[in-house]
Amino acid sequence: MAFPPRFLEELRGRVSITDIVGRRVRLIRKGRGEATGLCPFHNEKTPSFTVSEDKGFFHCFGCGVHGDVIGFVMRSEGLEFPQAVEKLAGEAGMQVPRETPEERERAERQATLGGAVEFAAKFYEQQLRASAGRAGLEYLKRRELSDDTMRRFRLGHAPDTGHALKAALEKAGIPEAISIEAGLLIKPEDGRPCFDRFRGRVMFPILDRKGQAIAFGGRILDQGEPKYLNSPETPLFHKGRVLYGLNHAQKTARETNEIIVVEGYMDVIALAQAGISNAVAPLGTALTEDQLALLWRMAQEPILCFDGDNAGQRAAARAADRAIPLLKPGLSLRFAWMPAGEDPDSLVRAKGATGFRDELARMEPLVDVLWQQVLADRPLDTPERRAGFRRDLAEAVARIADKSVADAYRQETYRRLDELFRPQPKPAFQGNQGQFGGQKSKFPGRQALVPVGGEAARRGLANVQRNAYELILITLVNHPDLISRHCEMVGEVAFPRGDLDSLKGAIIDLAAGQPHLDSKGFRNHLNDLGFAGTLEALVARTGHMRFTLPSAELNSAEEGLLHVIGVLRERLSVKPELTATAQALEAAMANPASPGSENVALLRFEAQRQVSMEGESQRRDLDRVPGWGSEDKTI
Ligand code: UTP
Ligand code: MN
Repeated sequence: MAFPPRFLEELRGRVSITDIVGRRVRLIRKGRGEATGLCPFHNEKTPSFTVSEDKGFFHCFGCGVHGDVIGFVMRSEGLEFPQAVEKLAGEAGMQVPRETPEERERAERQATLGGAVEFAAKFYEQQLRASAGRAGLEYLKRRELSDDTMRRFRLGHAPDTGHALKAALEKAGIPEAISIEAGLLIKPEDGRPCFDRFRGRVMFPILDRKGQAIAFGGRILDQGEPKYLNSPETPLFHKGRVLYGLNHAQKTARETNEIIVVEGYMDVIALAQAGISNAVAPLGTALTEDQLALLWRMAQEPILCFDGDNAGQRAAARAADRAIPLLKPGLSLRFAWMPAGEDPDSLVRAKGATGFRDELARMEPLVDVLWQQVLADRPLDTPERRAGFRRDLAEAVARIADKSVADAYRQETYRRLDELFRPQPKPAFQGNQGQFGGQKSKFPGRQALVPVGGEAARRGLANVQRNAYELILITLVNHPDLISRHCEMVGEVAFPRGDLDSLKGAIIDLAAGQPHLDSKGFRNHLNDLGFAGTLEALVARTGHMRFTLPSAELNSAEEGLLHVIGVLRERLSVKPELTATAQALEAAMANPASPGSENVALLRFEAQRQVSMEGESQRRDLDRVPGWGSEDKTI
């Protein structure tokens, strides 16, 4: 059975050969879109098997096998060509065209449409150099484009007569119906003759990966509406699946693992002329999922450029919103803000590639943009408002489909919450503002929490630490699923030597040896190992924290666990600023009667509000509390 060549081409374009091979072979990336590994088709000890994403081929220098992604699946899974195609198409979510007459006709039609669009692109290019196109050429020169750049991007001019292209298409024998379907001509409904869609515009052909034109954007020369006119959707051209400039950008993007997303045609072109040849643009719409997937095949963290103004912020919010559910380990976005009134085109013309790069250097990771979006300008001056902020963050993070990315985001947001809500040091204590100290002025609603001091606090500090270790352990015992998920983090927390430390070791060993135990089985094993007494004491001391109980939802157990680890970690790394937090947590833990004890954060603030407040001098005292100094860190 024959598949239409266009379909096979699209299939090869959609699946990543590195990903497919990577399932079978441990690949080491070599840059330039290349990766190597041990050949799966012959026995070897040193890697001579290579995969090239750019070329779409694998090759073994040892045994000489080579082929494309379909060939790899055939060989590695013992399939015939059609089965391998079916399998890959299924994974790529593509319909395999059946060999029906309609299908064949459609393939032929696409080929014909492609031919017509390509013909028009050549026509517009010629017009730009003819007398009819002088205005267009002058316009592009005014915008400081070199002849070389115009040729590279195949820029053209559409004469304003309204029938220049039509006449050329007719002369070339291209049927009118094809020209209409390709979006080149418009047929009025009232039966008048059809006419050129693009008139009196400079033309930006939208090229496929091979550099063949599939659609156009046309810019008006002077003022007028619309400024840019795009081809309609056609069987060849789906706006949401295309990125302008990708055919030029893909090589550099892969080689450098960097791709820059700008707003418009002129931005892509001006950057390329300035030597930044890895920029692409969506076509006048917000980024689609398909476009994000395309971008992530070029680079792990595409850089999105936006205006610094409100519209830019909104556009960034949309992009972030779309990307969040799709995040995968290693794959994210970065956001760069252009100075007010500038776009990459104007910026690079005024300040050169270096000036543009300087702006890029201040870009922010997705997590920062998300954080600021949720935070917006909301005040955080009451426990309810803080709890509301926390809930909204949790909701945003819950949209991440990938488990491990969601976990990492959860940890990061807990860390930032603690940072944000931590009492603000007085000037005398400045210097430990943490990594996000610089952002604080952005949060006018934030209120300084007055730290607590005094004897109660000192006692609290010793207890809270032990209690935190206990909470961690009992949560793990009651929810063994959390152990493998967070064992690295738990492992990093240094426990004081003694019963708790031994229990921790036993828990981690047990989970590694018997990964499928439920909480009951887990306890039985620990009892057999001699921890019955320790466990019993733990249960008695922690039972009022609902998240630790076997009956707690896994989610809230996890939330509680991560929170406690976060607090403990901070305690070990940051001293004076944390006393109030620790104190409040202690108070929360000591208060079995509170409803919803699983919400540690809310309780923490409640408790904090109730504790008496003392002055600066006692805070300083805390620095000298025995057992709360540097030796504390080695526990
Ligand atoms: P801008 O209006 O920001 O234009 O639109 P620009 O790229 O800076 O254009 P110049 O510099 O004035 O020539 C950004 C992009 O939005 C799409 C185009 O893709 C444009 O490049 N757009 C804009 C449209 O599709 N239609 C429009 O009417 C305007
Ligand atoms: Mn512009």
